[in-house]
Amino acid sequence: TTIEWDIEAAEKAGYEHFMLKEINEQPRSVHDTFSGKLSELDGSVNLNELHLSNEEIRNIERIDIIACGTSLNAGLVGKYLFENLAGIHTDVDIGSEFRYSNPIMNEDILSIAITQSGETADTLAAIRSCRSYDCNTIAITNVVGSSITRDANSVLYTRAGPEIGVAATKTFTAQLTMLYILAIKFARAKGTMDINHAKDLLVNLKRIPGQIQKILNHRDEIRECAEMFAQEKDYFFVGRHLNYPIALEGALKLKEISYIHAEGFAGGELKHGPLALIEDGTPVVAIATKGHVYEKILSNIKEIKAREARVIAVANVDDTEIEKYVDWVLRVPATDELLSPLLSTVVLQLLAYYTALARGCSIDKPKNLAKSVTVE
Ligand code: G6P
Repeated sequence: TTIEWDIEAAEKAGYEHFMLKEINEQPRSVHDTFSGKLSELDGSVNLNELHLSNEEIRNIERIDIIACGTSLNAGLVGKYLFENLAGIHTDVDIGSEFRYSNPIMNEDILSIAITQSGETADTLAAIRSCRSYDCNTIAITNVVGSSITRDANSVLYTRAGPEIGVAATKTFTAQLTMLYILAIKFARAKGTMDINHAKDLLVNLKRIPGQIQKILNHRDEIRECAEMFAQEKDYFFVGRHLNYPIALEGALKLKEISYIHAEGFAGGELKHGPLALIEDGTPVVAIATKGHVYEKILSNIKEIKAREARVIAVANVDDTEIEKYVDWVLRVPATDELLSPLLSTVVLQLLAYYTALARGCSIDKPKNLAKSVTVE
């Protein structure tokens, strides 16, 4: 007799899809990305791979982050981190737009390419053009020896392991992890962040893998919610501040794998158009974790509810107020406001996954999409 087995099933390690396996690997991939780099005792980070002296860091005039797709959403979170922690003005550019623009660049501008595969044609072309202006360049990538690693002055590897599902999940949270580390490094070098704040943030960062695991343990609640709304035609996501890019990423995940029309908005923009689309019953996901814009997102939720939409809030475990205003609450553990995207994202990944599962979609290989876009 012969034993039948197939390599793909073996690689999925018992999971129905690579995407679910990869979502579940995030406690480890986030941990592996920061492992060996954080000294919470003295509030410092060790990034030996970074070829920038403290003096060069202090001289950075502006940061320009360049990326596509999910990596672009990580870059948008990065903007808040570099500006809030290190006081460095940061722009975020889409690779395909940057390469055909006439950017104002000089040697005091740092460009950071974020690309999981290291092979996205537009991101590669954009970073090459930065080098022609003598900018210092950093690549954040998950693939050792990929093309981007030959074009950047410093390469920072995320340690997520291979990602097979077309929709990026564990590489996104690994990119965020690397951006926190880099922003803390810059902030400490510039003296914009005191040692106690740095220590606190590092301690909280180290707690994230365990907190992600808690979310994963409650995946049945997210599944139940996903199934309730799985047959909808439109879905909206709102967030403010750091949660705005997470709203964009939540919408991107959902449209990529479930084919539901989904859009992300900044809460303050609702009145400038999106409210016109919100009708009786429309599902709206509001990211409402605790932070300095919490009250603001609550007012947005009230505006949305006034249009009879159904609101699903992503909120902290101890938030009892939120239940009064929304139809459904998906819970995340409390952490430092700046780190909360690492947790809210996982909820939205699972929401997209279980929605696509309920709709019978081809989750790991969505139609018309490729894992890596190596042509224009
Ligand atoms: C494709 C993938 C996305 C990914 C994007 C950027 O569109 O389907 O998941 O976010 O490319 O890829 P990169 O490898 O540059 O991060």
